[in-house]
Amino acid sequence: MPLNQQVLLDNRPEGEAVESNFRLVQTETPALSKGQVLVRHHYLSLDPYMRGRMNDSKSYAEPQPLGEVMIGGTVGEVVESQHPKYTPGDKVVGMGGWQEYSVVDGDVPGALRRVDTTHVPLSHYLGAVGMPGVTAWYGLVKIIAPKAGETVVVSAATGAVGSAFAALAKARGCRVVGIAGGPEKCSYATAELGFDACIDYRAHPDVKTMSKALKEACPNGIDGYFENVGGYILDAVLLRTNAFARLALCGMIAGYDGQPLPMANPALILINRLKLEGFIVSEHMEVWGEALAELGGLVAAGKLRPRESIAQGLASAPSAFLGLLKGKNFGKQLVKVI
Ligand SMILES: NC(=O)c1ccc[n+]([C@@H]2O[C@H](COP(=O)([O-])OP(=O)(O)OC[C@H]3O[C@@H](n4cnc5c(N)ncnc54)[C@H](OP(=O)(O)O)[C@@H]3O)[C@@H](O)[C@H]2O)c1
Repeated sequence: MPLNQQVLLDNRPEGEAVESNFRLVQTETPALSKGQVLVRHHYLSLDPYMRGRMNDSKSYAEPQPLGEVMIGGTVGEVVESQHPKYTPGDKVVGMGGWQEYSVVDGDVPGALRRVDTTHVPLSHYLGAVGMPGVTAWYGLVKIIAPKAGETVVVSAATGAVGSAFAALAKARGCRVVGIAGGPEKCSYATAELGFDACIDYRAHPDVKTMSKALKEACPNGIDGYFENVGGYILDAVLLRTNAFARLALCGMIAGYDGQPLPMANPALILINRLKLEGFIVSEHMEVWGEALAELGGLVAAGKLRPRESIAQGLASAPSAFLGLLKGKNFGKQLVKVI
């Protein structure tokens, strides 16, 4: 059986996560038992939620155990199979973790999903046509539920979730405004992702200037907001919301290293009769089929052309992950494992 490089969580971060929280090891993959499949990973997905799992604190999911392979979505190829449903060569998506190979029990529901790479490249099943895409779909369709002509705003606009959000919201006839870090990301948002406008938050580093920029970009106010960041950006958005606006609380990445994110003016929720709803996409498996069908269609039609940042080799995963938490990624952050 092949040797397997793995990245383990070695110790928990104190404040900011650092590379020494991780440990690279090599093990031998075990021989397969009946019903098992050996998958060779092509790409590993790096996602902000992994930062939360590194802490030993109360959350919606159990912490990542120390000394075990880091959790993570993977796409790859079946190289050996003791399961009648899978054949070597099948392209599959699963939760293989930060390692080169995984042994998967083919009978566990949802553990592996075969994917068709005829019109959608394999890597996109970890991004636009995978968990981040469905996240954008759920927040937009089920929480914001926009009408054509309404204005919707998203933060972390050029990332995996934000870029899918733009395509989905344009398909529903919305005015779509992004908030992203830096002029290059903002130009890309309007030129390539279909945003009507994009605000560089680094050039608007406080509530006053951000709120002024939002007023200009959203002349009819904000009807829907998809929150990925938190902090003063949320405060500024609240100031520009219309009555009965809907806010989908998806992520608060500005606080993932433990920084407090107080809200300056929660009375605006009452004054503007806002709906605020947090959600975790894995708790809404009932929508995945419909969402993935729409997202796959948008990619196949060229209406969603997601950008990817690809780190080379498993050993680069820790530094690429820490970069993602600082906005060094441009689009979906992946690791090419082979
Ligand atoms: N609720 C759910 O079920 C669910 C599922 C998936 C993802 N999420 C959340 O969705 C959000 C986006 O995820 P993603 O996978 O699409 O990641 P991403 O946007 O591809 O990458 C993260 C981006 O966050 C921005 N960022 C990082 N630190 C920041 C800070 N301190 N202030 C402002 N922006 C910062 C950076 O973009 P800029 O350079 O533009 O700042 C960075 O590129 C995250 O908050 C994630 O936790 C939630």
